[in-house]
Amino acid sequence: MRAGELREAFSSFWAERGHEVRASASLIPHEPSLLFTVAGMVPFMPYFLGTEVPPTRRMVTIQKCVRAGGKHNDLDDIGRTNRHFTFFEMMGNFSFGDYFKAEAIPWAWEFVTEVLGLDADKLWVTVHFSDDEAAEIWQTKVGVPAERIQRLDKDNWWAAGDVGPCGPCSEIFYDLGPDHGPGGGPAHGGEDRFVEIWNLVFMQFAADGTGELTPLEAPGIDTGAGLERILAVLQGVPAAWDIDLFAPLLAEAERICGKTYGADPETDVSMRIFADHARATAMLISDGVFPSNEDRGHVLRRIIRRAVRHAWVLGVTDVVMPRLTEIVVDVMGDHYTDLVANRQFIAEVVAREEERFRATLAAGQKILDEELRKVQEQLDSAGQSSPARRRQPPRPAPGGETLQGAPIAASHSGPQRRVLQSSKEAAPRPLTLPGEVAFRLHDTFGFPVEVTEEILAERSFRIDRDGFEAAMKEQRERARADRTGGPTFADERYRELLAQFGPTDFVRDSPTVADARVLAVFEMTSPDGSADGAVESAMEGAAEGEGLVEVFLDRTPFYAESGGQIGDIGTITGPQGTIEVLDCTYALADLHRHIGRISGEVESGTMVSAEIDDERRAAIRRNHTGTHILHWALREVLGDHVKQAGSLVAPDRLRFDFSHYEGVSPAQLREIERVANAEIIANGRCRHYETSMSHAQSIGAIAFFGDKYGDVVRVLEAGPHSVELCGGTHVAALGDIGHLRVISESSIGSNMRRIEAVTGLATVDRLADAEDTLSSLAEMLNSQPDEISAAVQRRLDETKELRRQVRDLQRALSSGRADELVASAVDGVVIADLGDLERDALRDLTVSVRDRDGIRAVVLASAPPGGGVALVAAVDPAGTLSAGALLADAARIVGGGFGAKGDPPLVVAGGRNPDGISDALTQARVAALGN
Ligand code: ALA
Repeated sequence: MRAGELREAFSSFWAERGHEVRASASLIPHEPSLLFTVAGMVPFMPYFLGTEVPPTRRMVTIQKCVRAGGKHNDLDDIGRTNRHFTFFEMMGNFSFGDYFKAEAIPWAWEFVTEVLGLDADKLWVTVHFSDDEAAEIWQTKVGVPAERIQRLDKDNWWAAGDVGPCGPCSEIFYDLGPDHGPGGGPAHGGEDRFVEIWNLVFMQFAADGTGELTPLEAPGIDTGAGLERILAVLQGVPAAWDIDLFAPLLAEAERICGKTYGADPETDVSMRIFADHARATAMLISDGVFPSNEDRGHVLRRIIRRAVRHAWVLGVTDVVMPRLTEIVVDVMGDHYTDLVANRQFIAEVVAREEERFRATLAAGQKILDEELRKVQEQLDSAGQSSPARRRQPPRPAPGGETLQGAPIAASHSGPQRRVLQSSKEAAPRPLTLPGEVAFRLHDTFGFPVEVTEEILAERSFRIDRDGFEAAMKEQRERARADRTGGPTFADERYRELLAQFGPTDFVRDSPTVADARVLAVFEMTSPDGSADGAVESAMEGAAEGEGLVEVFLDRTPFYAESGGQIGDIGTITGPQGTIEVLDCTYALADLHRHIGRISGEVESGTMVSAEIDDERRAAIRRNHTGTHILHWALREVLGDHVKQAGSLVAPDRLRFDFSHYEGVSPAQLREIERVANAEIIANGRCRHYETSMSHAQSIGAIAFFGDKYGDVVRVLEAGPHSVELCGGTHVAALGDIGHLRVISESSIGSNMRRIEAVTGLATVDRLADAEDTLSSLAEMLNSQPDEISAAVQRRLDETKELRRQVRDLQRALSSGRADELVASAVDGVVIADLGDLERDALRDLTVSVRDRDGIRAVVLASAPPGGGVALVAAVDPAGTLSAGALLADAARIVGGGFGAKGDPPLVVAGGRNPDGISDALTQARVAALGN
């Protein structure tokens, strides 16, 4: 069975058992507490926790997963084990409060033994030591012999992160046989012999991050069956690297390394790293992660760089990653079609990252050489003889040259050889590079500590690991403190409200709802939404006074901030009081929380009228639909790799962040504006409607991260071209947007750009402001706005002409002075005090006098208006006098000096003391004429 067939068999099996087949979610999870989608259950965490209602209770997916960084991190094992990957596909069937162990266990067995046809005698299972129920089902219902059911503790407990749903689990293992390790089942034998192919998690608890577990109201099933591992068993290969999905990648790796896979264990590790990391890289970039220094981008950067480092250490000088990622697209593109669309883009991003990192490696190597030399010098000067070291010969690169640095070897060869002779008995003890140096190389220059270590080992150095770890730890703690995004645990009160009253009914087409019922009013202490704890229970309480409150209604016209669109403001009016609503957000998915200031009294249970600021909403609508048109125009002009990475839709402006690998030129910006405005004035109709996810996908609706899984999704067709999933509020026809105008374009990180724009009246206001500025400029220039360019040009020409005249006058003036000075020459030497002449003029004058016939030397001094003394000496280069010698003592007398190198014919000196000018000139005269 090949990968495609296995995916198909799995989905059909569960579809036949009432499961809805879902496409894989993005590798960027919704969960703020997770870096990546680490398992099939990640997109469904709210369904297990009960904070969102699932559209259906049974689903099946083949989910893209990345385990690198964070709790589930396989990065460091890659290549050294038979079946760990950073990227892999996890097949899973899910029950959200529907079937449980009694169904899940026999079905799993049926799939494994009947559909896949695995020999039941080779299968073992494990259960949590506390889980008698699961053990019983395996034994009596399924018929697994008791001796092949083992009980484990931590290995049979599963959680995606410290926060979220978790529970005991039960795993199925395939025994590859005695050639692959000791027997005794998964509890005793090694993982190379007993391959875990199936994990059934019985989701029963919610963890809050402190170790506290709360039972879930509706326990569920979360399955994880690793596609690559199962394929390995089916294809009869002991290592998952040997399955069909990896073959073309390993073939390319062989070409890169110039070796056969399987010939050398160390090179094999590198080859597997190329294959694995290329998969993760292509998949992550396609999902909108870019190499950077933060969070996900940082992990991606590490993945790419690790592969490149292996190539570098192997002496491969060609760029390797773009071709590898293209092969990933070839292999995986039929199932993950977005890869095909992003093929070129992925290769470009990865090529730039690889080139940059190769430059870093070259530069880092130099710094490291320098640091090692320092350590050596310190030891030498402290009189400590170097410990005896055996220098291992550097590994030769395929090109024949030695890879690791000649400089250090050369500088060390002397002392080293002496030591070897004098202390033959001493035990070889490596020299130590301070931990902070390794950390700085890593942190500042991106030079990986593994590379540092490899180079050090070649030279019998080692890293002070403790120091390095301490520096790393400190940095991690700083990062943790900076990290936002806390636990996903919704406040108990909100969950109660949702359970009691259901989702808020958002009335999107009217600015007013006259008959909304107040479900709860909570008093708050701060506008950021933190309640003070002294809250009233739903439908019973009331709040009064002047304070901040959060209000929950059964129906509301207030849009709750989401998808970049900010919340509405307005008023809620009741019989005995009003609330000025300052913001509206989601307390939980589908639970609108109105935050506002109360005056009078508002009681739960009463009917109120809720009204938004409609003018503000209209501006927001224009900016939101404008954002969609801008997005479309960006893709038209720059290409389909442009992906939304975030947005802000406010009444006064819109902000749109997107992926793009270079700055957008002014000409492109103009073009984007033209394309967008042409679309707007064509005034296409906007259709905003609910539909099924599959229909949305079939009409090519663009969905990016931040968009949710859901059965029913909202699609916006904004005119004839732009189709996106969007829950925001929008105009009815594109012409309503008015004129869209880009006001800025900037970089917000590597490969990330930000555009700010205005629409509607904001554009009108901006243009009016610009015209006002032009009018007042025109007035200042005594001109008309449409003649302003010509008027400014005239002024500029005039200024230029005046400058020229000033220069000529100065020249004429100084040539008159030069005549006088030449006339005062004594024996071809001119010495004079020029009063307060500026330094530059003094120098020019000195040169022009020196260049007259019969002049051998000139020394001029002045006290320029800015303070201090200027002294200039110039001599005939063909003569015998030296300008430096003429000024040497003179400069000292005025309290200054000069820094001429060699013996130039012109020397300029400065000084502090104008009173010394006369003595200084006398001194210069003595130096020139001897009297
Ligand atoms: N979520 C479980 C796992 O990843 C099934 O193993």
